[in-house]
Amino acid sequence: MLNIVKKHLKEVKSFYSENDIEVEEFRIKYNGKKGVLNKLFKSFRDVPEKEKKEFGKVLNELKDEINNKIINLQKKNKPIKKDLSVNGDLSKPGFPYKLGSLHPLTIVENKILDIFSKIGFIISEGPEIEDDWHNFTALNIPEFHPARDMQDTFFIQTNPDVLLRTHTSSVQVRYMQQNSPPLRTISPGRVYRNEAISARAHCLFHQVEGLYIDEKVSFADLKQTLIYFTESLFGKSKIRLRPSYFPFTEPSAEVDIYWGLDTEIDHKITKGTGWLEIMGCGMVDPNVLKNCNIDSEKFSGYAFGMGIERIAMLLYQIDDIRTFYENDIRFLDQFKSI
Ligand code: DAH
Repeated sequence: MLNIVKKHLKEVKSFYSENDIEVEEFRIKYNGKKGVLNKLFKSFRDVPEKEKKEFGKVLNELKDEINNKIINLQKKNKPIKKDLSVNGDLSKPGFPYKLGSLHPLTIVENKILDIFSKIGFIISEGPEIEDDWHNFTALNIPEFHPARDMQDTFFIQTNPDVLLRTHTSSVQVRYMQQNSPPLRTISPGRVYRNEAISARAHCLFHQVEGLYIDEKVSFADLKQTLIYFTESLFGKSKIRLRPSYFPFTEPSAEVDIYWGLDTEIDHKITKGTGWLEIMGCGMVDPNVLKNCNIDSEKFSGYAFGMGIERIAMLLYQIDDIRTFYENDIRFLDQFKSI
């Protein structure tokens, strides 16, 4: 009998495993209900009296050896167990989040809308698929005007009355029809023109249109608003108004901003003059007010329109308009911090 216990003791001492399942099997074999240890303790009463003392001593030694073995091996295998747990290793560094950025056109549009919202302009929008009346007729654009030419406008083939709007001025018409003066609105949106795509032109681009209608609105109000705008957006307020022609405004002007000639780039983008054209504007033609059922004897107003791409190209020194529509991550990533 004693020899059997000694044989187990030797076996237990030499047992080693890093495998959870093997350690558990070992535990059941020796410490389980029907395990070796219980059987040996039960056989204690059959041991001859004179051997009992020695047998008990070795059996207790075996018991301690088994318990220590199990505890030590379970402890050793714990880190593996932990790694397989639901939370994994909490000391590991986290996964990096890939942050996106706003598109530069959205950034510039938001800036422009912000500036005008501060002085009471309300944002309005209109449809990109427009009818002839809102895009041309109501805006005093006569039938022979080149803007109506197939070369410049995308018409819907099956219906020549339906087209992709060529400017956001169509939104001011809708706004005047739906609201009565005083009106102050700013309308951003996408516009389309049938142009050859190049570094400077695209068949789609974005505009912001502004409209202010009230009693006794004068050209001086327009000029002051433009000075406020250019100061806010570019930090430069020296502007000049060049007489121009738009069918929907009378008088009409183009706005140039003094950009300066400090750097070589300044020379390049202003073609050596220091001046840059940024938008068209004017006093709303009374015919347009009449078309929208506004009393042109009582009310007057100003309007202006600018291209968002052009302004973004100036602000961020982008020399090719096509980069806005390519969605190249390397280009877009540069606007993360703006
Ligand atoms: N609609 C013009 C364009 O697309 C821009 C414009 C010029 C809008 C003068 C206006 C304006 O409201 O008064 O080129």
